[in-house]
Amino acid sequence: TWATYIEPYRPQYHFSPAQNWMNDPTGLLYHNELYHLFFQYNPGGIVWGNMSWGHATSKDLSHWEEQPIALLARGFPDNITEMFFTGSAVADVKNTSGLGTDGKIPLVALYTSNYPVTQTLPSGKTVKANQQSQSIAYSLDDGLTWQTYDSANPVIHYPPTPYEDQYQNFRDPFVFWHEQTHKWVLVTALSEIHKLIIWTSDNLKEWSVVSEFGPFNAVGGVWECPNLFPLPLDGGQTDTKWIMVVGLNPGGPPETVGSGTQYFIGGFNGTTFIPDDDDVYPGNSTANWMDWGPDFYAAASYNGLPDAEHVSIGWMNNWQYGGIIPTYPWRSAMATPRHLSLRTIGGKVTLVQQPKENWASIETQKKYSRTWKSVAEGTEDLGSRGKTLDIELSFDDRQQASGVSEFGVIVQATADKKQQTRVGYDFQARKVFLDRTLSGDVSFDKTFASVYHAPLEPSADGVVRLRILVDWSSVEVFGGQGESTLTAQIFPSEKATYAKLFSSGGSTENVQLGISDLSSIWQ
Ligand code: FRU
Repeated sequence: TWATYIEPYRPQYHFSPAQNWMNDPTGLLYHNELYHLFFQYNPGGIVWGNMSWGHATSKDLSHWEEQPIALLARGFPDNITEMFFTGSAVADVKNTSGLGTDGKIPLVALYTSNYPVTQTLPSGKTVKANQQSQSIAYSLDDGLTWQTYDSANPVIHYPPTPYEDQYQNFRDPFVFWHEQTHKWVLVTALSEIHKLIIWTSDNLKEWSVVSEFGPFNAVGGVWECPNLFPLPLDGGQTDTKWIMVVGLNPGGPPETVGSGTQYFIGGFNGTTFIPDDDDVYPGNSTANWMDWGPDFYAAASYNGLPDAEHVSIGWMNNWQYGGIIPTYPWRSAMATPRHLSLRTIGGKVTLVQQPKENWASIETQKKYSRTWKSVAEGTEDLGSRGKTLDIELSFDDRQQASGVSEFGVIVQATADKKQQTRVGYDFQARKVFLDRTLSGDVSFDKTFASVYHAPLEPSADGVVRLRILVDWSSVEVFGGQGESTLTAQIFPSEKATYAKLFSSGGSTENVQLGISDLSSIWQ
């Protein structure tokens, strides 16, 4: 292993690089029974810069092994001439690209080349700017080492007409194989103007524009990191819908500041994505949020898995304060990988997300489970329970018409309770919430100490269900069947190991609690 995983705040079962800065997951590919996770990485520092593709692999999405850098910024460290921004990867099984030699299957990555360019303005003044283009890299050893395809790069130099002037914010190619039309499909973002361009190709090298999408719904910041993929509806074999995921920064969910991830549900015919009518809000007034917390961004999808086993990974940080979070010698972790599916809930087609890890492999034997017929108003101590927890909590709805009335669990509290993070349900607002106002070190950014809410209706039988994953510096909440999620970083004291239940505005009935300890994936 590359690190000891004992530093303060070091995530125990989320992937984080041993050292240095990390942002977006990129090039997620399942190939030869191995999950590849590439990521935006600065090999030379703990803030953003020198963007390269770091690399980690896993057999089970739970234990990760950091690998050597896959694509090192060209000219690093002295004279950067190309940075490797976010992209995606596929196994070109039929060797459509011709990059496979000696019968080897080429793995092909599409990424954004960020070239520093110097421009001369009409005034004669020269300014430094970026040119963003889409390029190819490939691997002939199943993803261990990569080379850029220099003779053809960039394969898409400029945005299409009439958007040529958007070349500074033209990025994040997401590629996949579309079986029905037998073509490669690529989605790229024109970030500033909130448009996605869809392209198709026979060989991953020559691309034609086939459609565009946007602006729709949330447009409060730049659009980045698009993903397009099919999901079967209600587990059925017949009905499939397509999901378009778009990151935007800033302009995330209400109550957050900075980055957020929205999605659209719709149809895709190989060239055009059309969102369902009830998924586009007039006047860009609101959005479908993939996560309602502050720390879930640049979510990326795995290629190489069956549709019904769709897995997505988000960057568990936020551009608002990502560069100043109090961790050392690394910054940022990935959120827990999520299994994505589509279910009809309350008559609406809904994106459902559940943690997708090989839990059996990281859950220790210590399981705490209790039930209460009724938890009285006040708090119920659960003692010292640790800092790496998988919590399942369910309780009856209260059908509250007015007044403060909440129930939930406090995690990572100090014995004196001065530090604590609260996760609960607001019966009147019908929302699940995550409160990190007292979660430890909140001082480094003025927007950090906040409460975040996500809408959540109790199940048809009147039960509220929460699944809560706690790690040394994060809390992830999956509400209901996974139709509402909240992800937030926290930076509590090492002694913040206590937990308790809280009930306000009355007692809470039929409470069931299970807590499993999660061990470090690094051991
Ligand atoms: C999103 C992003 C991408 C870009 C990458 C650069 O977080 O801004 O749009 O490709 O980060 O590191």
